[in-house]
Amino acid sequence: MRVHVADHPLITHKLTVLRDENTPSPTFRHLVSELMTLLAYEGTREVRVTPKEIQTPVTKTTGVRIAEPTPLIVPILRAGLGMLDGMTALLPTAEVGFLGMARNEETLEPYTYAERLPDDLHDRQCFVLDPMLATGGSLSAAIKYLFDRGAVDVTAICILGTPEGVARIEKDFGDHENLTVVLGAVDDGLDENGFIVPGLGDAGDRLYGTA
Ligand code: PRP
Repeated sequence: MRVHVADHPLITHKLTVLRDENTPSPTFRHLVSELMTLLAYEGTREVRVTPKEIQTPVTKTTGVRIAEPTPLIVPILRAGLGMLDGMTALLPTAEVGFLGMARNEETLEPYTYAERLPDDLHDRQCFVLDPMLATGGSLSAAIKYLFDRGAVDVTAICILGTPEGVARIEKDFGDHENLTVVLGAVDDGLDENGFIVPGLGDAGDRLYGTA
């Protein structure tokens, strides 16, 4: 497993605006989408490609195209939905599947309330999108789901993570060669309610105006 934390001033700048409690929902949504596109640059570094011959106006040459089967993008509802358009902007031919997961607010254990994925994920490269990696329970369950269905390679892209969340994914999948976690930043940790500190609050509520 590989963990990559983005280290780029543009990402830190946008994250700072995202964290600000005075940032309204429309701006928050726009920033989540922009951050996704910036993180996708790192997250798609290992996207599978096949050679493609083309004719330029000058000569024949060989480039690449995204390999078949096309990648599967899996936003984790709700908050991951805010990252979807930023990802499909870069991978327009990808298929999209959905996992609806939420945390029990008392136990912090995740539960799955919706699932719309292809039955067979053999040979599929999957990109899981969720802005928040807090305890890591939700992301761990989502990754397990995809590997159990036959996914060959999983990249999880999160805007914010915690040391606890990263440790949980390492504990569950540390020896898995085909797993990459890309994070915009790793924060200090979790408070007693399971919120990321300093964090940005509840991403789902802030995206959809339910705060
Ligand atoms: C948030 C977030 C992750 C999860 C992270 O979702 O979007 O899915 O919590 O927490 P964990 O790492 O401790 O599992 P939430 O349960 O708030 O649902 P929502 O996206 O519908 O708001």
